[in-house]
Amino acid sequence: MAGDIIKVRDLRVSYGNRVVLDGVNISVKEGEIYTILGRSGSGKTTLMRAILMLERSEGIIEVMGVDLNKASNEDRERIKRYYGVMFQAASLFTSLTVGENVAVPLKESTKLDSNTVCEIVRFKLSLVGLDDDVYNLYPYELSGGMRKKAALARALVLDPKIIFLDEPTSGLDPVSADDFDRTIAELNKLLGITVVMITHDLDSFFGISNRACVIRDKKVLAEGSPYDIMHQDDEWLRKLFFGDRGKKFTQWNLR
Ligand SMILES: Nc1ncnc2c1ncn2[C@@H]1O[C@H](COP(=O)(O)OP(=O)(O)OP(=O)(O)O)[C@@H](O)[C@H]1O
Ligand SMILES: [Mg+2]
Repeated sequence: MAGDIIKVRDLRVSYGNRVVLDGVNISVKEGEIYTILGRSGSGKTTLMRAILMLERSEGIIEVMGVDLNKASNEDRERIKRYYGVMFQAASLFTSLTVGENVAVPLKESTKLDSNTVCEIVRFKLSLVGLDDDVYNLYPYELSGGMRKKAALARALVLDPKIIFLDEPTSGLDPVSADDFDRTIAELNKLLGITVVMITHDLDSFFGISNRACVIRDKKVLAEGSPYDIMHQDDEWLRKLFFGDRGKKFTQWNLR
């Protein structure tokens, strides 16, 4: 069984005097698709940003064996090189073409010549299922689904070991969302990339995640397989899974 690629213990994150996470423990296993669930404002993005070293935190965040809050700057930078990130808004630079957008991390952290950069970018675009023609298009010329895929290609451009996705399917129609989920699952299988994903989308939760945690009252209410999470004795989770929207996924279980 694979070991933990991310281990968070007793994590505490505050904004000023306001404590948002207090005593969070999670373990993400290498090669899995791990989902973070929780109501809006519960601190999901904050947890992700702490692991990404974008927020100050107390406690242990161990990534690939490195304790980030105790590590040297050099080690922290080395771990960052293994990360690929797609933020909630999937924001691309509007003044750059798709190709130029995807190339940004390569230009920032390598000295590769422009032909090589171009080849890598085209390969990453094809990996996420985008046609070659989008290379020269601007973000405003893309559909929402294509924009998310371009942002995913950019997150993949430095060959990350872990990708972080903050609500990747929000705002997509169901067909594009399914397509995006399939792409994530294929990348996970094909390249062995560990995926940490925040989502409210129960299709993604039941469809592609291996394990998940639920953030509640500044802590982790539960961690386990989708099946384990679904059977927690908790009011909000019951509403999520067995309410009007959720019950189509869980009806078989009500009988
Ligand atoms: N930079 C910040 N400064 C101050 N407070 C913040 C900041 N970022 C987030 N918060 C607060 O921390 C809490 C958790 O926010 P966070 O964005 O982590 O929630 P979330 O679970 O990702 O919510 P959503 O599902 O709506 O994206 C919220 O109450 C939010 O207002
Ligand atoms: Mg969020």
